[in-house]
Amino acid sequence: MKKVITYGTFDLFHKGHYNIIKRARALGDYLIVGVTSESYDIERGKLNVRDSLIKRIENVRRTELADEIIIEEYQGQKVNDIIKYDIDILVVGSDWRGKFDYLKNYCDVVYLERTKNISSTKLRGEGVIFNMGVVTDDIRDNDFVQESKYVSGVHVERVFSEDEKTAQDFCDKYELDSWWNDYNEFLSGIDIVYIKCRQLEREQYIERAIDMGKYVISDVPAALSPEKLRYFFRKAAEHKVVLIERLTLVYLRAFTQLVWLVHSNLVGDLVSVKCAISQDDFEGGKPFNETVCNAICAVIKILGKNCLEVNTNAVTDRQGKFVYDMITIKYENALATIEIGTTVDVEDEMVIIGSNGRVTIPNDWWNTGYFEANISGREFLKRYSFNFDGNGFRYLLQELMIMIRDKRTECTRLFYDESVKLLEVLETINQKG
Ligand code: CTP
Repeated sequence: MKKVITYGTFDLFHKGHYNIIKRARALGDYLIVGVTSESYDIERGKLNVRDSLIKRIENVRRTELADEIIIEEYQGQKVNDIIKYDIDILVVGSDWRGKFDYLKNYCDVVYLERTKNISSTKLRGEGVIFNMGVVTDDIRDNDFVQESKYVSGVHVERVFSEDEKTAQDFCDKYELDSWWNDYNEFLSGIDIVYIKCRQLEREQYIERAIDMGKYVISDVPAALSPEKLRYFFRKAAEHKVVLIERLTLVYLRAFTQLVWLVHSNLVGDLVSVKCAISQDDFEGGKPFNETVCNAICAVIKILGKNCLEVNTNAVTDRQGKFVYDMITIKYENALATIEIGTTVDVEDEMVIIGSNGRVTIPNDWWNTGYFEANISGREFLKRYSFNFDGNGFRYLLQELMIMIRDKRTECTRLFYDESVKLLEVLETINQKG
């Protein structure tokens, strides 16, 4: 008996899917179809899948061509499946030509021509598209144009800058459709605006965008005072739009899982959170406030909002230049420290210490895909790893699209109160520093 296997996401099931399954079936006597799981798709950066796994399986089942349906859950599973199910032929579409040749040691690999003019991507594109614009004062895009391509339903269309040349250069560099230096006109053609300009102008751009009913993503901090931020959140809710800050950490699977695990007692009662960060390493160098906000955010997500005291120990060099800071945030039974090298280099790392062990996120913890737990009494480290691509912006954008779809105005990854608390801590640091 000749056994054939083929894989796919099979989102928004279409003729191309049917054809490949049918042709795969014709190559043998028994066909297994592997359907990708949701977490596998998210991990490999495919964020735009619309149908649930159950629905995608059901669609494959209804073809009545598959003798067996399995779930593809991780990278490298194909080799294991081929051995496990004693497969003779692996079938894949021609878009993957050459990519699976390494499996020829295990079975025949057949690439079948794709059906022309149809794909899940194309079908998704026929839905509603949200136009996006960016407000900037330099020509760096923080990679967000590239990142947005992984999220379906958004298109970065235009750029605004007070400086015409910057707007023009940005537009050319990232191949956008248009550039503007009249803010109202710029806003009128878009649904979502990403505000990444200097702090000084940020607040007025946010306010006008909310007033015009636009969804807003802002670099952090979105406002300089907690009262102002609350006011923005209230205003956004009244206008039924969303204001979210660019704190990508809270949208990453590894970080969400880490928070979940430490709250579920992985290392016992939490005693300390230590975050170290060099300002230069954070996204190619960002202002102090923005860098430190990411660390405060991590602390609040892990230890909560109820801190008792915030202190700062800024170090200046002989010329009076601010070079280093050690911030402490005291809780009833725990202490957080944020070590920040403003000009000097500190070793980027986050360590969470509990009564029963510790968790470490090495290196750039704000972009984490990996962490390890050292639990007392256990001989080996417990390692947690997640595929993670890009700089995290795509996960934030994906969440925003879900909020828009569900008509939610408050982000559940970082609640209003947590954002406001974060700003209170930042305000204290700036006042004491
Ligand atoms: N396929 C095909 N012809 C098409 C579309 C897909 O033969 N027009 C094949 C793919 O080559 C793959 C299988 O169907 O072997 C499952 O593809 P999948 O990635 O789920 O579908 P796409 O439509 O390519 O999805 P997307 O646009 O999201 O990449």
